[in-house]
Amino acid sequence: MSFPAQRPRRLRRSELLRGLVRETRLSASGLIYPMFVCPGNRVRQGLPGVILFGLPESKDPRGASSVSAQGVVQRAIEAIRKANLKLLVITDVCLCEYTDHGHCGVIEHGEVANDATLTVLAEQALSHARAGADVVAPSDMMDGRVAAIREKLDEHKFENIAILSYAAKYCSGFYGPFREAAQSAPQFGDRRGYQMDPANAREALKEVALDLDEGADMVMIKPALPYLDIIRRVHEAFNVPVAAYNVSGEYAMIKAAVQKGWLDEQRVVLEVLTGIQRAGAGLTLTYHAKDVARWLKQC
Ligand code: PBG
Repeated sequence: MSFPAQRPRRLRRSELLRGLVRETRLSASGLIYPMFVCPGNRVRQGLPGVILFGLPESKDPRGASSVSAQGVVQRAIEAIRKANLKLLVITDVCLCEYTDHGHCGVIEHGEVANDATLTVLAEQALSHARAGADVVAPSDMMDGRVAAIREKLDEHKFENIAILSYAAKYCSGFYGPFREAAQSAPQFGDRRGYQMDPANAREALKEVALDLDEGADMVMIKPALPYLDIIRRVHEAFNVPVAAYNVSGEYAMIKAAVQKGWLDEQRVVLEVLTGIQRAGAGLTLTYHAKDVARWLKQC
């Protein structure tokens, strides 16, 4: 018998062979582009969808502008609808971009008050639905927010608006560039009282189970790269679409290294997004989306 019988390299010898046996195929159809909207923004096409974050003109303790029909996100959705773009519009539902203290909820007795926040989140989701959003994505990590939003939407006949919940959102150092862009860094304390401890995996399964019980249609893990194990476990444990958010700090790391000439951008971005998909993410929110769509079209 010749040795070795198994030669894995046989199937790696040409691009045609590698393409034939490839397990994970990256496509722009699974990518969502995060956009920060402010008055005057223009949206161009090329991707299936966007997720919108608001940069409001003014902030206050309760994030009042987040529920206004005249709010930045609401106006952006309307503009997208008016332009008749074939584009899925997802909206981030949270208070931190709209509160002057930068926390994801309203403050009572020096703490982020869970139940008082639910009312505002549900109103915000409703106003996004009214403006024409397809999917709302609560990212605040309050307990019970998916149920509160689902109930509010159904009450107003928006039973077809889907909820993509940021089910396992970790208290991460990788949100830095986002917070700078949105000027949403907490002005006191931190988010450890509501976002998850990076050390916990089983708790993520619990969070996902709760959100699904409350009516979430899709669940998100965030950030992506330090939590690939969580993406995999959620993918195996639940039969729902799993999203991953390749966050601002993950994007910035690659951009900075590329600027220094240390990494080949296209190569590492495709590798990273393939890895996230291989871990079990069916859809990925990423700031690389526009570049990836262009690269995939070219080749
Ligand atoms: C809002 C929200 C944040 C991000 C998405 N939604 C910021 C945070 O939790 O501080 C971060 C996204 C990114 O870093 O790209 N709650």
